[in-house]
Amino acid sequence: MASRRRQKARALAASILCVVPLGFRTGLHAASLAAELPRPRTEIVLCRHGETDWNVQGRLQGLSDIPLNGVGRSQALEIAAAVKAGGASVVVASPLLRARDTAAIVADECGADLRIDARLREASLGVMEGRTAEEINATHPEVWAAWLASEPLPRQARAEPCEAVAARLEEAILEAAAAFPAGRVVVVTHGAAIPAC
Ligand SMILES: *[C@@H]1O[C@H](CO)[C@@H](O)[C@H](O)[C@H]1NC(C)=O
Repeated sequence: MASRRRQKARALAASILCVVPLGFRTGLHAASLAAELPRPRTEIVLCRHGETDWNVQGRLQGLSDIPLNGVGRSQALEIAAAVKAGGASVVVASPLLRARDTAAIVADECGADLRIDARLREASLGVMEGRTAEEINATHPEVWAAWLASEPLPRQARAEPCEAVAARLEEAILEAAAAFPAGRVVVVTHGAAIPAC
């Protein structure tokens, strides 16, 4: 199924734009969603939230609810500026503060409604949450090695499986897309959730 998804993604990748303010693992897997989008095609703008203090410290967040910092708020304005030219039918966001506050800034700047959808929350990162690379590698080297290689995390990570994350994100995004045929849906979610798609 993953490879069928990837094939479709290659054919239809142009329907999804990724706007991500911070360097992190590729968000391009999310392009697989393009295959399922209603016709006339809805455009999805997939965004990661802006920076938080934990991002700066290299602490993984998962479901920990850390707010944007000042840089993160400026990044939200940058996302808004990038989105504004093409407009937004709606902005849909994860309920976690860093995403919903990024989304609120984008929605406000673009004059679009903001909707919160819990299915867009970050992946639970289990034993990695609240910890830096060094701290994780010290106690769970196999978990850290898998994370770095973007491989499925071993069970002892106690993290949400990426298939489960991808399934709930896809459901939320497709539902929003279906409500705005030929529109432009801006989705604000997270750095581990986006590549899971
Ligand atoms: C994890 O720590 C071990 C030493 O305990 C080290 O050899 C290894 O390179 C570290 N791995 C990463 C990815 O930092």
